[in-house]
Amino acid sequence: MPKVYTGDLTKMFDIAGKKAVIFGGAGGFGEAIAEGYAANGCSVCISSRSEEKLKEAKARIEAKAAPGVKVMYLAGDAGDEEFVKSAVEKITAPEGLGGCDILVNAQGINKKMWSWEIDTDYFEKMLHTNITSLMLTNKYFGNWMKDHNLDGDAYVKPEPGQPNLNKGYGKIINFGSVRGIRAVANGGMGNVPYNTTKGAVEMLTKAFAADLRPNIQVNAIGPTITYTPMMVGLLPPDENVRNGIAGSLPAQRIGYEIDVVGPAIFLGSAASDMVTATTIYPDGGLVATS
Ligand SMILES: NC(=O)c1ccc[n+]([C@@H]2O[C@H](COP(=O)([O-])OP(=O)(O)OC[C@H]3O[C@@H](n4cnc5c(N)ncnc54)[C@H](OP(=O)(O)O)[C@@H]3O)[C@@H](O)[C@H]2O)c1
Repeated sequence: MPKVYTGDLTKMFDIAGKKAVIFGGAGGFGEAIAEGYAANGCSVCISSRSEEKLKEAKARIEAKAAPGVKVMYLAGDAGDEEFVKSAVEKITAPEGLGGCDILVNAQGINKKMWSWEIDTDYFEKMLHTNITSLMLTNKYFGNWMKDHNLDGDAYVKPEPGQPNLNKGYGKIINFGSVRGIRAVANGGMGNVPYNTTKGAVEMLTKAFAADLRPNIQVNAIGPTITYTPMMVGLLPPDENVRNGIAGSLPAQRIGYEIDVVGPAIFLGSAASDMVTATTIYPDGGLVATS
């Protein structure tokens, strides 16, 4: 039976006791979400390639975590299929988090290249990091949720060439961008490769939502430009000058990392059980007005 929320109305946004894996979890948005989840009682595993950055982020997340929350990390490349398979095993094992209710894909890379000088190798690297890695985590964690978050239903072994009929529940949140649906009028200083990958995240999200139905909701968050580590060197160092870039938008500022945390809690909670195959844009009105 497709799930309908019938619980306590004051608990709809409650993520306490849940278990989340956050790829890109030591990055700007990923760490902000990990902190928001842990502060609200959700255990988290953060993952990215640099073990050093993961260790430092883990300490900061633990400092803000609610009592009883487990914070762990796993270093590896989300674009490496063997690593993603092993991550599913390690995170869902009793000595890991003991399960997985929420998958967040906040990994990604960005490099500006004017169309006449696009570097094919780097373009393919961006496709691999910004799209293929999401396919791998949606595939392996999504099907783990289908097969294991059974809520008392009997497990049905999928037949080759047939859909996975298990209804296991879960939440998947993929990071797109306003650039997935809005090119920049002046070329965005060379946004063809990045925008291409973010457009693909929009459709990957919808298609996985259709495949993993009915109780796994797959959605995207599409933030506006935000001064995370990804944007250091691409945006001006002065905060007022940066916000001036968005002066004509309704919010009259660019994004801050905290702006994605509320949407991530909503999309990770029962409050969003009928929300799937869509994107939330915490963009200060950019998509609608520019
Ligand atoms: N900042 C913005 O203005 C903005 C706007 C819209 C959308 N976004 C999107 O939001 C997401 C998060 O970006 P952010 O701004 O938070 O950037 P960030 O601070 O650079 O974080 C990105 C994270 O991804 C990790 N990563 C990169 N390649 C990886 C790989 N192959 N496997 C595993 N982890 C990998 C990085 O860690 P390692 O290098 O250690 O692996 C880093 O922790 C990205 O998808 C980005 O495209 C950003």
